[in-house]
Amino acid sequence: MPTPIMRLIAPFALILIITLAACTAPTSGPTGNETPRRWRIGMSQANNAEPWRQAMNEQIAAAAARYPQIQIEFTDARQNNAQQVADVEAFLRQGIDLLIISPNEATPLTNVVAQVFQRGIPVIVLDRKVRGDQYTMWIGADNRLIGRKAGEYTARWCRENRRSPCNVIELRGLEGSTPAQERGDGFREGIAGNADVRIIASQNADWLAERAETLSRMMFDANPTVDVVYAHNDPMAIAAFDVAQDQGRDTDAILFIGIDALPTPDGGIQAVRQRKLDVTYVYPTGGAEAIEWAIRILEQRETPPREVILDTEEVTGANADTVWQKYGGR
Ligand code: FRU
Repeated sequence: MPTPIMRLIAPFALILIITLAACTAPTSGPTGNETPRRWRIGMSQANNAEPWRQAMNEQIAAAAARYPQIQIEFTDARQNNAQQVADVEAFLRQGIDLLIISPNEATPLTNVVAQVFQRGIPVIVLDRKVRGDQYTMWIGADNRLIGRKAGEYTARWCRENRRSPCNVIELRGLEGSTPAQERGDGFREGIAGNADVRIIASQNADWLAERAETLSRMMFDANPTVDVVYAHNDPMAIAAFDVAQDQGRDTDAILFIGIDALPTPDGGIQAVRQRKLDVTYVYPTGGAEAIEWAIRILEQRETPPREVILDTEEVTGANADTVWQKYGGR
């Protein structure tokens, strides 16, 4: 015989049991009868306006489309740190299961990334880094290595072309973004083997073709002899080439180096094939890898490596056609 008190609590006990069962039941399983779990992923992009970042977003979207359980939302910080902090805070308010972020600059984005991580939400940092270790993993290519390869290429080219001194102008990426620092440092290591190589001018063009156009014009005007243009990305290298051509310089006598090697009509591989650039380096976006790792973290509960380093490739006139085919140039 149930006592009055038992009768009183029975409905509540039933609700509690049902709730507990719902919480512990697998959301998807071998029978396939349960509702599959959906994952909300926030993708915080530093700036949508640059072609390489558009490629990154496209690769993320294409990879995510293979997983119907992923719901992904992109934000565009338009190269503004405060905006990107606000974008991530908004993701936190809305609730996300995982954050992918390609931070505009390292220091200003470090705290907000740490906040997300400390709430137990996995964070995949892509391409540009943040400071410290408050994130789950970083995916990107080795920018110091790329810079060093560009420097070694320069050192060799200057020697082979008997340029002494060999005058380099450098167009740098946004200073607070880690690839700018690393591509600059690596280049300096690479040229160290040839004392004739001198960086005679170095300007910060923030990764942007328009700024590179103005700044390279000023640098060319101030320096009658320029042997090498080293730009931290292809859009800036191509802008400098156009300026040199516009000024009636002998562009065949100048070594133009860029980085990114996008397989698009305006990208670096095509610029090498058109003999605007002499060399560029493949800088993979890591978009597909970020989604693969997101799934492994969320569904397989894997502990990822701290870093996944993506391969690069040197692209010159000798292999540009092959590389173009390889990356599905269009
Ligand atoms: C685009 C870009 C690329 C470059 C990367 C470095 O914003 O400037 O051209 O390789 O960012 O983070």
